[in-house]
Amino acid sequence: MRSTLLLASVASGLLLASCGDPERPVLSDVLIGHCEYVSPFTNEPECRDYLGSWSAEDATADCTKLKSEIALDTACPSADVLGWCLTDDDGEQLRIHILGTDTSRCGSSKTGCQFFGGGYWDPSALCAGEDELLVLDNAWPQPERVCMDPLPGEPPGQSEGGQVCTWEIISGATEEGRVFSDYASCDTVRLQRPYSPVPPNRRSLEADSRMDDTDYVADVRWVQSQLKSSACVCCHDRSAPSGPSVFDLDTEDNLFNQFNDRGIAMGAGWISTVGFGAWPPEQNNGFERSDLDDPNDSIMPTTDMDRMIALFEREASHRGMKRSDYAGEQYGAAILDELRLFRPSACTEDEGVGADGRLRWLPGRARYVYVLEADADTPTVPPNLDRPEGTLWRLDLKADAYPVGSESIVYGEVPSEMVQRIPESGKPPALRSGRQYYLYVTADITFPISRCLFTAP
Ligand code: HEC
Repeated sequence: MRSTLLLASVASGLLLASCGDPERPVLSDVLIGHCEYVSPFTNEPECRDYLGSWSAEDATADCTKLKSEIALDTACPSADVLGWCLTDDDGEQLRIHILGTDTSRCGSSKTGCQFFGGGYWDPSALCAGEDELLVLDNAWPQPERVCMDPLPGEPPGQSEGGQVCTWEIISGATEEGRVFSDYASCDTVRLQRPYSPVPPNRRSLEADSRMDDTDYVADVRWVQSQLKSSACVCCHDRSAPSGPSVFDLDTEDNLFNQFNDRGIAMGAGWISTVGFGAWPPEQNNGFERSDLDDPNDSIMPTTDMDRMIALFEREASHRGMKRSDYAGEQYGAAILDELRLFRPSACTEDEGVGADGRLRWLPGRARYVYVLEADADTPTVPPNLDRPEGTLWRLDLKADAYPVGSESIVYGEVPSEMVQRIPESGKPPALRSGRQYYLYVTADITFPISRCLFTAP
């Protein structure tokens, strides 16, 4: 229940983030206990106090989900803290201590709290006044196409010289019949969304007579094999560092029973998962999934979309689920949808492009800088959602460079720390004086610094 808070409250967090700071919740003096753990989002230590109307049972379950053990009736020990993220979900309150002394994490901790956690950020003395949004560690890696010889005993690959080529990204797939993690790095993939082990649905504990039917078993094994060829394997099989998230592609039982109903609905394409990003199949060893052309394709990458959808719909009907039950849930990619569907409003006076052509943004250092047509969609993840139609100019920070500050870039001139990705070559179109454009500057893919409409000087 509770772990969905982070995703479920993203919408409100964003609304709040976009119209100033949220209100500080009034914290209850009822203390249930505390939990010390490592954040699955940042891999940094945190401690949370459970306050208010939490039952001891729910608080314990929340702490177990974080792979730790609750200590009832006591509060987090005092320690070096960058700040506290305060959340209130109908009286169930959390005071999350963001531990550490590295003040370069102040800005991203604040954004993480407000944006992903829908919380109120209360900085410690260490972070007071350090509002700059900066992402130095574990930045979202841009996808690379990795080519290698086939494993001994496997047939020749389909790329030049018999090699096997695979896009190393969460939406990537290797060749059908092979296993993604043999041909690309899962460590890279696991930087692209939070990973944590999550137990499967309780249905998986029950015997299932459908598995006596060999045709049925063949369908289940086909789904497993398709997903083993894709980057999904990185968090959804037993090689994941602390175990699989929800479903285990190595299971010898019925994989379908491990999904929750919502997972089945996404498999059937009833909830659009276009927001996660996708390749065209011809660039992805023939694997496709929900994308801008077919948002209601399955979330599962596959070489046979009709079969994949049919198998998830069969499971849905076995459970008595109806498509109409999900009519209100148009999109399933949470924060990525919120970011993508964001519509900018006018820049503040600290943002935009000055008469000298310099780009100005709010406190923070940029890894990505975009100037787009005013009506363009908001860029999010590669490979397809990071280059919306109407992108006039896009700069990416070089992999080993320190992120750049406001007023260090003149429109059309590429600073030495960055590379121009759009247009592929040559200067971007000149800005027309008096016309509105969209400035989008981020500290990393999901950490916007400024996203607003400016009028060209
Ligand atoms: C970096 C880790 C990671 C990768 C890679 C990943 N996932 Fe997941 N996935 C998760 C986590 C964590 C959850 C559980 C979220 C929760 O319940 O809090 C999840 C949940 C899901 C669910 C919901 C399951 C249910 O029934 O509740 C589906 C469906 C899913 N993932 C599909 C995919 C597909 C398809 C891919 C590959 C394209 C993929 N995932 C790749 C981490 C990952």
